[in-house]
Amino acid sequence: ESHKLWGGRFTRTTDPKLEKLNCSLNLDRRMYAEDIEGSQAYARGLSKIGLLTEMENDQICSGLDEIKIEWDHNEFIVKSGEEDIHTTNERRLKELIGEPATKLHVGRSRNDQVVTDMKLWLKTNLAALEVTIKDFIQIIVNRSLKEIDIIMPGYTHLQRAQPVRWSHYLLSHAWNLKNDCDRLENNFKLLDIMPLGSGALAGNPFNIDRESLAKDLNFSDITQNSMQAVSDRDFIANFLFWASMVGIHLSRLAEDLIIFSSKEFEFISIDESYSTGSSLMPQKRNPDSLELIRGIGGSLFGQCCSFMMVLKSLPSTYNKDLQSDKESMFNTFDKLMSILEVSAGTVKTLKVNQEKCKSALSYEMLATDVAYYLVRKGVPFRFAHNIAGQVVAEAEKKNVDICALTLEELKAISSHFEVDIGKVWNYENSIEQYQSVGGTAKKSVLNQINKLKKWLNER
Ligand code: ARG
Repeated sequence: ESHKLWGGRFTRTTDPKLEKLNCSLNLDRRMYAEDIEGSQAYARGLSKIGLLTEMENDQICSGLDEIKIEWDHNEFIVKSGEEDIHTTNERRLKELIGEPATKLHVGRSRNDQVVTDMKLWLKTNLAALEVTIKDFIQIIVNRSLKEIDIIMPGYTHLQRAQPVRWSHYLLSHAWNLKNDCDRLENNFKLLDIMPLGSGALAGNPFNIDRESLAKDLNFSDITQNSMQAVSDRDFIANFLFWASMVGIHLSRLAEDLIIFSSKEFEFISIDESYSTGSSLMPQKRNPDSLELIRGIGGSLFGQCCSFMMVLKSLPSTYNKDLQSDKESMFNTFDKLMSILEVSAGTVKTLKVNQEKCKSALSYEMLATDVAYYLVRKGVPFRFAHNIAGQVVAEAEKKNVDICALTLEELKAISSHFEVDIGKVWNYENSIEQYQSVGGTAKKSVLNQINKLKKWLNER
């Protein structure tokens, strides 16, 4: 006997090669709980409009409970040739409770069922990703508070630019991740609209109460057009783009840390638990964790791209091309979760080398401060910038640090230099100028930490 639910009009069996290609059970079995939850709500909906008796509804719901336990305990037996989670659950229900099972699918289609399952699944699992991101932000916040006095070169174009606090640098990544959390709001909004009751494409002919179905399944709204509802995968595309953005943020952090952990920098060392060795060179300790994050971070966008190409040019409503949505969704979820966890672990356990960070600073990084010094003496900035440039050139010519130029030498460039220029040659003083919101002064960094702490506590 065939397990197919659509076998009625067929006289020949499916080619095994197509059967294999068509099968999505290996992937969509992950949504067994959501599929069961949706079916139970649908059964309750059917009983309210008299398409199932109270008794049949009870039988269906408790049969589905049993099936859930089988899946939970890894005891569910899939039969060969079964197509997807929806058909396999229905087949098992019939085995367990007999005839009432054959009444469950009335007015419903796998087309509205699958979108409902996916939205339910993604709602739960997106929330899990959010928690993981927030845990990571917490790790950064904790480090930043402890290590607030460590200073390092800040870079633009990977060239030494201005001195900054190590905490300020680290927190820059926390703020990217916070933006990712904020961007989730729109994702959740799309996920909160229930498609169940759209049928194959035309809607529900038995006037099932979709509002109460939505309440039952914890959706706050229902879709308004059945043709749109069964073809809509915007919520997946949104998720994939969102995940790509998180991946890019993690990848950029990883790239920094790879550079900072090289012998040439040595600002940080990656803990042994997050690095690996070489099978040939005994001395090696490689930042594999970070390289995996960087590589996988990029591949997430590959998933996004590939799914967009599936969506493009699809005719209206459901087409089987859409089945690949699960592969993109699960794969992206798994990869993102693992690189988030490894990023968090790597950042939590790395050691920062305070001495190396400080000794990488050089006085020409204070050239901007020379210009600001002159501005505070009343020189317009463009002139001040030019004078400071001449100071740099003079030091270069004399082959000394800019702080080694004498007051006479400086005065020869501009009469605005006075003895208090000596205070400029101090990295901490330089950093402490940046007091306004968002700057690298201690006060501003503490302010960032407090803001993030407050936001984290709101969860
Ligand atoms: N397994 C299918 C999917 O994931 C479910 C929907 C099938 N619908 C259909 N008309 N063949 O897309």
